[in-house]
Amino acid sequence: MKSFPSSGLTRAQIDASLDALAGGDINWRGGRAPLYVFGGDSEAYEVGRDAFFRFFSENALGARRAFGSVRQMEQDIVEMGLSLFNGHEGMAGIVTSGGSESIFLAVRAARAEARAKRGLARGVGNMVMPDTAHPAFTKAAQSMDLDERRIPVLANGRADALAMAQAIDHDTVMLIGSAPCFPYGVIDPIDALGQVALEHQTWLHVDACVGGYLAPFARDLGYPMPHFDLGVPGVSSLSADLHKYGFCPKPSSTVFFSTPERAKLAGFDLDVWPSGRFVTSTLVGTRPAGGVAGAWATIQFLGVEGYRKVALQVMQMRDAYVAGIKAIPGYRMVAEPDLAVMAFGDPGIDMMRVAALMGERGWLPGTISRPAGMHLMLSLLHEAARESYLSDLEVCSRLAHQEATAGIVEKRVSATY
Ligand SMILES: Cc1ncc(COP(=O)(O)O)c(C=O)c1O
Repeated sequence: MKSFPSSGLTRAQIDASLDALAGGDINWRGGRAPLYVFGGDSEAYEVGRDAFFRFFSENALGARRAFGSVRQMEQDIVEMGLSLFNGHEGMAGIVTSGGSESIFLAVRAARAEARAKRGLARGVGNMVMPDTAHPAFTKAAQSMDLDERRIPVLANGRADALAMAQAIDHDTVMLIGSAPCFPYGVIDPIDALGQVALEHQTWLHVDACVGGYLAPFARDLGYPMPHFDLGVPGVSSLSADLHKYGFCPKPSSTVFFSTPERAKLAGFDLDVWPSGRFVTSTLVGTRPAGGVAGAWATIQFLGVEGYRKVALQVMQMRDAYVAGIKAIPGYRMVAEPDLAVMAFGDPGIDMMRVAALMGERGWLPGTISRPAGMHLMLSLLHEAARESYLSDLEVCSRLAHQEATAGIVEKRVSATY
């Protein structure tokens, strides 16, 4: 076990140690990680990073009382987000540390509303979601004593609005749709889910964590994009992560509510201890103001024009990846992706073996389990790696097929898709 250091290292020693530690990481700069890090405009990256370090020491917990700068930036981020997502004056939002926290706050607000309006007792309540909904909803459900009802999706990978409607009962506190879902990269039919929510007077949350800050710009460029935002009747809340396709420093996300009352239900206003009132709109207390400043600066720097430019590069690269994948014999997409998140494979070979072979070649293989396949969440970091990724994928698929035919590994084909 490592002991607490008795004396400090020099800065040079620390830098050398950090370099050594990072040396063992996946080469994400070279596009070898299919998730976790996003690359957009390189100048915007620097602007975001510099703003982050300018507000490195400030604490966003103190935005109301001490740091008017942070409060103003949060307000700006929320208003800019509302305008992007077809919100209107009177709607509200919260800047958070990430998708999971945004989702947690939305679930907390929906549960509070169901309790207040429908007299739902403690420990009672369920959430109806497509099978593809992010595990953050399960985390929230488990933490807040709610049941989850995961409903199988349609053959096109999208939520089955009819089946979801049938799963609703008196105790349903929330319906969920993704824009897009992480596993297959497709946008659920938010229009139809909005209608279901209105008919059943249920909360509808749109999880646009991964695609929210890319979809509007891809749509502007002419890419077909289903309606998914706050302009869709029946949508009560929407989460969208700035630290994904907003290309902002981590941690930064946003969650929007159709009314300020709903946003208030997400927050905490407590007077329970000797120090008096404690008010936070987020789950966490102390928060890095750097995340707020970095996001604010990145959005200001790129603007609609800059985001469209990056979106064009991302979508063109997405098209090239999809074409390259489909050109590999036997390969197909699990679903045609709406944005730059996708799943694919060859149903005739053991895709987990392909993934393992890709790992041996220095790729961090993104995978899905139902059906077994490969997964990519593309950003501009992946442009330079495209040709080598596709050729390694083809080689590894051939190898996996040969191994299975020769009986070197047990023949396990993937499920059909
Ligand atoms: C659709 C979706 N929702 C929620 C999340 C959770 O976001 P975070 O990792 O920022 O908590 C993710 C993360 O990839 C996601 O893809």
